[in-house]
Amino acid sequence: MWFLCVFFHRLLDYRRPEVESLAELFGAFGSAEDGGRAHPLSLEWSLPENHHIDSPFHFVDLPSEEVARNIARRSLLVKGIYELWGEGATHNDLEKAIRGFPEERKSPYLKPESSFRIIVDSFGKVMSFQEQNDRILGLGYIPFKGRVDLSNPDHKFWLMEIDDNGENNGLPPVVVKRIFFGREVGAADRKLLPTYQLKSRKYIGPTSMDAEIAFLMVNQGLAQPGKLIYDPFVGTGSILVAAAHFGAMTMGADIDIRIVRDGRGPDWPPFPAPQLRVSFVQNDASLLRSLLQPDLRLRLFLAGRRSDLSQEISSLSKRTKSTLIFLR
Ligand SMILES: C[S@@+](CC[C@H](N)C(=O)[O-])C[C@H]1O[C@@H](n2cnc3c(N)ncnc32)[C@H](O)[C@@H]1O
Repeated sequence: MWFLCVFFHRLLDYRRPEVESLAELFGAFGSAEDGGRAHPLSLEWSLPENHHIDSPFHFVDLPSEEVARNIARRSLLVKGIYELWGEGATHNDLEKAIRGFPEERKSPYLKPESSFRIIVDSFGKVMSFQEQNDRILGLGYIPFKGRVDLSNPDHKFWLMEIDDNGENNGLPPVVVKRIFFGREVGAADRKLLPTYQLKSRKYIGPTSMDAEIAFLMVNQGLAQPGKLIYDPFVGTGSILVAAAHFGAMTMGADIDIRIVRDGRGPDWPPFPAPQLRVSFVQNDASLLRSLLQPDLRLRLFLAGRRSDLSQEISSLSKRTKSTLIFLR
């Protein structure tokens, strides 16, 4: 099934790889148990006519709506994934395309008992409220029968317009004017980054990693419950925070006790001066909890209580002379 995948315009080279990783995570290539598909695992992609790879608009072939929805919800760089009902260079072309889109694909979403909302979005230009309203009224040929619900609709439809990038804006001409209309299948979780951005964290240090990059890394690392994510250069734990958010068991080590011990929150509060030695895990679990729990709101996982891993951790700790952090 082909979907329209709209990306945010940032970290351009990471966008498709993140989707590919999440496709693997959500079973697009088959699970290991059923043999999976042959490596390399990769999706089929294409671009709108005359669009460059840096365009926000891409088409991607995914096995199901469920996979598309899961990818969109978890991705950092996907703004949304849509079932495309039509596209065109002009509104007339768009109308023709939408009218030609199969009735049986449209009618389940146009029923009187389901509510809907149409959102107008533009790239590379600003549209006034009036213009957005005019665009919505211009879609009168689509026989919506349900009621409009702006806050919690059953179905969201998007009209997205992009203009030619001006030649003098210093950017390569990545697109030509195009208008897309589609049903939203899945969209990004907009609360994730505000929740975990560095200024919201209680414990950071001079090398703390930006939350977006940390979440992107754990998406590419396929973090999920049942996986153990180990960061050998853990610092203040940003990657593990992201991995723990997705339910992975996490473990980290760092050669420098100070980065783990002496980090500060953004408001630089007085910090307890702990007597820490090599292993947090063995020596002072309550301190570790006080360091990291407020940040994570996640349970601390104590290695000592899981006998199979505790030996491993203890010997690793001695070998590396690192401080080990172990969270869940
Ligand atoms: C860029 S920082 C990591 C930042 C971390 N991602 C965070 O969010 O705070 C690199 C970390 O690697 C640690 N490090 C450097 N060399 C190391 C080594 N050989 N073994 C273990 N840790 C090391 C440093 O002490 C530093 O805390």
